[in-house]
This record gives sequence, C-alpha cells and structure tokens, in this order.
Amino acid sequence: MAKKKYLVTDALPYANGKLHLGHIAGSHLPGDIYVRYQRLKGHDVLHIGGTDDHGVPITLTADKAGITPKEVVDTYYPIIFNSLKSLGITFDNFSQTSRPIHHTTSRDFFTRLHENDRFDLREVDQIYCPSTNRSLPDRYVEGTCPHCKYERARGDQCENCGTMLDGIQLINPVSDLCDVPLEVRRSSHWYFKLSEAQESLEHWLKGKTDWKNSVLNYCAGWFALGLEDRPITRDLDWGIALPLDNSEGKVMYVWFEAVIGYVSSTREWAERIGDPERWKTYWHNPDCTLVHFMGKDNIVFHAILWPAMLMAHGDYILPTSVPANEFLNIEGQKLSTSRNWAIWLDEYLEDFSPDPLRYYLAAIAPETKDTDFSWKDFQARNNNELADIFGNFVNRSLTFITRYFDGTVPSPGEFASEDEALLKLLKETPKTAGDCFENFQVRAAVRELILLGNHFNKYFNDQAPWHTRKTDRDRCGTTLYVCAQAVRTLAVIIGPILPFTADKIWEMLQLEGTVSNQRWDEAGEPGVPAGHKIGQPKILFSKFEDVRIEAQIAKLGKPQTPAQLPLSVKTTDLNDPEKNPTIPIDVFQKIELRVADILSAERVPKTDKLLKLRIRIGTEERQIVSGIAPTYDPADLPGRQIVVVANLQPATIRGVESKGMLLAATNTDGDPVLLIPDTATESGAEVK
Ligand code: MF3
Ligand code: ZN
Repeated sequence: MAKKKYLVTDALPYANGKLHLGHIAGSHLPGDIYVRYQRLKGHDVLHIGGTDDHGVPITLTADKAGITPKEVVDTYYPIIFNSLKSLGITFDNFSQTSRPIHHTTSRDFFTRLHENDRFDLREVDQIYCPSTNRSLPDRYVEGTCPHCKYERARGDQCENCGTMLDGIQLINPVSDLCDVPLEVRRSSHWYFKLSEAQESLEHWLKGKTDWKNSVLNYCAGWFALGLEDRPITRDLDWGIALPLDNSEGKVMYVWFEAVIGYVSSTREWAERIGDPERWKTYWHNPDCTLVHFMGKDNIVFHAILWPAMLMAHGDYILPTSVPANEFLNIEGQKLSTSRNWAIWLDEYLEDFSPDPLRYYLAAIAPETKDTDFSWKDFQARNNNELADIFGNFVNRSLTFITRYFDGTVPSPGEFASEDEALLKLLKETPKTAGDCFENFQVRAAVRELILLGNHFNKYFNDQAPWHTRKTDRDRCGTTLYVCAQAVRTLAVIIGPILPFTADKIWEMLQLEGTVSNQRWDEAGEPGVPAGHKIGQPKILFSKFEDVRIEAQIAKLGKPQTPAQLPLSVKTTDLNDPEKNPTIPIDVFQKIELRVADILSAERVPKTDKLLKLRIRIGTEERQIVSGIAPTYDPADLPGRQIVVVANLQPATIRGVESKGMLLAATNTDGDPVLLIPDTATESGAEVK
C-alpha cells in the first residue's frame, strides 16, 4: 500500500483557561485517535496544534489579573500542553499564535490576499464602550437578533439561529462588561470579500459527498442566506498588526489569523526539525489529506471562511475533511465554565488514569448529536467493559499461560472449528475496525471492540482451559495459543483509543518493538510464536468504587477553589504611582459608604450575573442591582449585611433601576466576594 501524507489539526483552544472535556471530546481526542490509526496504517502523518492567543477574552483575563496578555497565554500554554500530553494526545508541533512565526505567516497571508484584491476598505459604524475607551468586541455586545428576534444574541453570532452577526446589527445592544450606555462610532475596516467566494465554495463542497451531513447542511444554510463580506480587522491593541501603512491601532480579526495558525505551527515544526521548507510538502501538496477536527461552533470558520481564504491565497491545498463534532453535555446539562458545570482535564487526571476517559469519550463521542457525560455511566463502562471484558480476557489468558505453561506460549495442536473461527475473526478485525476510524466513526469502533471482546471471552469460556488443562493438555495449549494471538491483535486494535493500555499489554507480552510501530493491516495475523516467553501479567483496569464517582459528581457546579487557579492577582502595581495617582482625603470623603441589610434578593431575568437586591440603609429601603450571581445564591442573601456606596447616581441596568452599589472584592477566580462588617453593625452605619 502506498504511503500517503496526512496533515491533521485540532482546533486551537483559547489560551485563557484550562481544558475541559468539551475541548477533548470535540477535537483533541478524535484528532488523536485518527492520527494514531493512520500512523498504524503506515502513513506519513503530521499532527498539528497550538493555542489561540489573541482575541478579547485574553485581554480581559489579563486586565482582571493585572498582567499582560502575553503573560496570560504563556501561563496557560504549559498547562494546556501538559494536560493534553498526559492524556496521550501527541502533537508533532504545538505552537502559540502569539509567536513571531505566526505573526509573520499571518501578515504574509494578509498581504497576498490584499494583492489579490480580496479586501475592501469600508467606513463602518461600530459599537464603542465609553467606560473602557475601547470599541466593544462583538461577543461582549448582547441584544436582539435581527433575524430570529432571539433576545440574548451575542454580537458575533446568534446562538439561537446560528447566524454570524456584527454587533452593530443587534437591536438594543447592551454591554456584557459594564453598565454604561454604548455609543456608535465610525471607523474604517478591511472587509474580506467573502460574497465573491460563494460560487467556488459551493462548487467545491458539491464534491464532498463523504462529509458529515451536519457540516454540509450547515454550509448549505449559509449559502441559502448568501455569504456576506466580513470585516477582518478590529480596533484593538492585542493581536496581529496589519502589514499596511497607516493602520496603527488595528489588528487582524482573531478568527482570520487563528486558522492560519495551522500553517504557522507546521512551519515551526519544519524549522525545529532542521528542514525549514518541509512544511510545504504538506501544505503545497495536492496529494496531502488535510483534516481539521473541531466542535460544531467552529464549522463556519473551517468549512467556509478558511477554505475561501485558502482559495484566495492560491498556494495552499484545501481541507479534505472537516469532521466537526456536536457538543458534550455534563450530567444532562449544558457545559458551562462560568458555573463550573464542567469537568477539567487536569483535575480528572489527578484522580484517574487517562485511558478510561479516552474510552468513555470515544464510546459517547458526540459525532452526530449532542451527548451526555455521566459519571455513573463512566463508572459502569469502566467496570463492565474495560475491566470485565477487556481486562478480564487479557488477564485470564496471560495468567493461564504463566501458571500452567510456565509463561511460554504453547504450541498449537490441530485447530478445532472454534479456533479457526476465532483466528478468522482476528484476521477480519483490522478491516472492520479500520473502516470506522477511516470514517471518523469512533463510537462504532468502540462497539466493534466490545463485540470482539465478547467473542474472546465466550471463546475462553467455551474452551474451558481450566478444565482441559487436566483432561486434554494439548487442547488447552491450542486454546491458549489462540488466546495469545487474540491478546496481541487486541493490543494493536485498541491502540488508537487506549494507547497506554496497548503499551501495557505489549509489555506483558514481551514482544519486540512497540505497538505504535506495528502494521495495522497485519494486526490480525498470528504474531506471538509458540515457544515465546511472556512477561508478568498485571491488572489492566481497576474498578471504580462508588465513593470515587460520587466525589466527582459533588464537585460539579461548585466554585473552583483558588488553589486550582494558576493566575494570581498581582499587587505590585499598587506601588506604581503612575498607575495609581493618589487622591486627597476630601475626594474620598465625598463617597458615602454605609452598612446596609439585605432584605430580599432575586435574579434579574435573562442575565447570568445580575441580582436585584432590596436593601435597607438605616430607615430607607432601596433597590440595587449587582453582578454577584456568579458567587451568591439569592436564597442565601437575606439577613446579611453589606457595604454600599449610598450616594452613587442612580442607573438603570438591564431595565432594572439601581440606587447605589455594593462593595465587593474579586477573588482569584475573578468572581465577586462581598465585603461585610466583621460583627453585626447598625444598619446605615457610616463606613470610613
Ligand atoms: N479558539 C477557538 C475556539 O476555541 C478555535 C480556534 S480554531 C482555529 O473556539 F482554527 F481558528 F485555530
Ligand atoms: Zn437569531
């Protein structure tokens, strides 16, 4: 079989947070499984990844922590990289989009598109936030979707109807970050003429009959609406500067350059291995298969925007496949990092080994619809499938060889029909399982593995070597010879999904080389010769007790403890007079701070963070709105005392009147914590 070239990419996670299982199920695990499989097939495969370092969320994280955006992304890079590595996700190169090589690559790309007349400079209105003196990025604007009228659409995209939007298109825009009214200002931006690309894109996608329906349907929806030109620059100070004169204060739109990160990371790989032009043997090679793994929220960027960019550039190949996955829910609810309704990869890895997670996520892979991660189901699959089916078979087989044949694989006698049947099944397995991997059907691959494991156990039970060892030693030897072949085949076939287990089995079998240098197509042939001495059998999977699982369930939705957060608030800046000009005491005295009692509290409808509080300051009752919902349950608040700024100008926040502001500090999680009097204090007492 001819060796083919594969370039496989996983979506680049934003470098302002740790990885959770949504990232893993959506892109990294399916990507890694595919890569491991194609390598076993003998192909030349490059697995490319990195972090997505630009974009406003990174700037906001930096502002909150009092450090630079570069410090943020450099803090998270090793955390992300190491947790992926511990899960067995192996990259040929894992870069950062904040590195110089990516800046150069993106600017060259931009220049080429500019030369090819794919951009248009347009004067546009954009939303400006007077309190932060920044143009407010689309995703921090919330308002009513002009298409479906969904009231909580984000400025970049409507979650309800999926339309890609501009913040300026929203009806009644409000800021997510602060409560001041938004302004509209004029600015000029470069537009990518995406509308011109529609015809070529449609034509190209017609040829992709093997793509997932979900992806094709999604694209068809876009074409039906008609592609619109997209602004691909932003007025921000963190990002990639344009390679044009008179463009200070403008950077490339993060999605425009992030996808180019796949090219940059490949170039970085080539430089690292001392063959700087080698990246072209993938990106400029029409025979190279280019596969992008990602979650469904990334489809438009990989199946429409990116191919259009590549076409406009001209030198690069186009994606061969864009196998997008749906979402992973957690215990029946949508994953939410702000509510900590998430399972964090590094935390999982502190408590469990990687393979059970890889196995479970493969078994429930959200390939065609959203699926649910349930800890109890995880436990059941580990205990009933990994331990009872696979672990048990391998252990029984190898223990019998050790115990009754001195650790030496017996010579087979004449094969009975059951032996022949099992050997035939082994021969067919690489093709059956391989077809699943080839077609991005990891769930189906797991089902095949379970069937295989069940066959193995049935064979073992039917042949009853514990019995034949006393009655017909020759028969017993034949059975165990066949079992040894099955164990070896299993090790190779589970390799893509369970790489750590595969290596362990290989070690126990004491075969030469490693699983990863085996040939997939030959994995079903008998490969453990009679007379071969095996190693010490060890337990492959332990069962998970209820208590371990319950402890995990209990963590969901609870605020993360500060120790788990890598960033700490920097206080050194407090000493910097430039950043902290002093004020005379009389300025401070103008602020009227008072102790107040909370009478009642309720959520402000349609918001995540805001609570409406009735408070009493002395004899006066008031209503205030405060963004403390991330930390406080409204039910816990009545009866507590707080400190408020009593003489603040009244404001209307999300349509709710607020007279005053409570004082809160920010914990290391970035969430608010109330400042409260140390002992009960009279309501209305002055705070000085
Ligand atoms: N950072 C994006 C996300 O997490 C994914 C970027 S993928 C890339 O949704 F192609 F743009 F790099
Ligand atoms: Zn909508």
